[in-house]
Amino acid sequence: MNNRILVTGGTGYIGSHTAVELQNNGYEVIIVDNLSNSSSEVVDNIEKITKIRPAFEQTDCCDFESLKSIMAKYSDIKAIIHFAASKAVGESIEKPLLYYRNNIVSLINLLELIPLFDIQGLVFSSSCTVYGQPDELPVSEKAPIKKAESPYGNTKQINEEIIQDIIASGANIKSIILRYFNPIGAHPSAKIGELPNGIPQNLVPYITQTAIGIRKQLNVFGNDYNTPDGYCIRDFINVVDLAKAHVVAIDRILNKRQKTPVEIFNIGTGQGLSVLELIHVFEKVTGERLNYKVVGRRSGDIEKVWANPEFANNELGWKSIETIEDTVLSAWNWQVKLNKKDKNG
Ligand code: NAD
Ligand code: WQD
Repeated sequence: MNNRILVTGGTGYIGSHTAVELQNNGYEVIIVDNLSNSSSEVVDNIEKITKIRPAFEQTDCCDFESLKSIMAKYSDIKAIIHFAASKAVGESIEKPLLYYRNNIVSLINLLELIPLFDIQGLVFSSSCTVYGQPDELPVSEKAPIKKAESPYGNTKQINEEIIQDIIASGANIKSIILRYFNPIGAHPSAKIGELPNGIPQNLVPYITQTAIGIRKQLNVFGNDYNTPDGYCIRDFINVVDLAKAHVVAIDRILNKRQKTPVEIFNIGTGQGLSVLELIHVFEKVTGERLNYKVVGRRSGDIEKVWANPEFANNELGWKSIETIEDTVLSAWNWQVKLNKKDKNG
């Protein structure tokens, strides 16, 4: 039997792309997802890409007993990748308790179950949001963690501390924490991609929905920042490159190559790009003219952040390879595919 990997949140944006890459690397994937922000159709689409249907269990990771019975059902799970979480920054400010409960109880359940089923390790989805506005750029893993700007960001910081505390207590658990920068794009097959619920909060899905006519105009939140062109700067990383980082992390855990029981890696390209530069890339690769207007700043936005990915490059042996042009085009191809599907019903 192939090494079994439990992927919580595996029908979500990053989880589904990771499920594909795990299968491409010979792993057996078991997806646990409560479909609170995704659809079970994603399981079909993963199968269309890899010709291997992942096991799928519709379950809430906050339900300890359900999670325990799934781990008992799929004996011999070797490791877990924990994507399942609520992730909308704005919503977390309106509904903090939903975020604290969902994002923290789900992790605690997994950490309690891991020793019962002899699971070797946990890969955790964290975010560059834990750095706030870094004092130094590019930002490395040694940068100080700053007070979170939102309950969502705080749940990521708390989760990282919980993982480190449980391991410091002597629990027989290994973990790799991956701090993602700004994941964008879609699988080149355009069979899976980002499926934001309602009005997209993130830049790239808003761009593609504007260009395809779902949204009237993109509001660009401010161009009076202390950056070369006045627009915010981000490290936009291809979602397939990001997914591959998870396979490398799982390999590292299962082959016992970790140097410390908890390892933290920045998963970014190392290149900063401004919002305006990204808009120009979109227009260049698609030939579409984007209708946008500069408005006031969005509260809570970080001015500029991009990764120092050297630790992941040298120690993890992972590097982002996709170009920003191909990545933005993959997001557009996915939007065009979605639009065709909606039109044909
Ligand atoms: P997503 O919403 O597409 O995927 C999350 C999945 O988890 C969804 O399918 C949802 O249905 C599921 N889920 C949520 N709560 C659950 C629960 N209690 N039990 C079972 N399933 C549950 O989000 P994503 O963009 O794929 O993000 C995945 C992870 O990466 C999250 O932990 C997120 O915080 C983190 N992350 C995302 C970004 C980003 O920009 N997308 C950046 C940094 C970190
Ligand atoms: C990027 C830039 C906006 C939308 C968020 C979360 C972070 C992580 C990734 C989960 C900013 C500008 C955006 C729009 C705009 N998620 N923008 N108009 O804010 O860097 O990070 O998603 O972990 O935790 O904070 O990503 O895509 O929302 O914004 O001008 O309609 O695009 O101001 O400068 P962000 P984003």
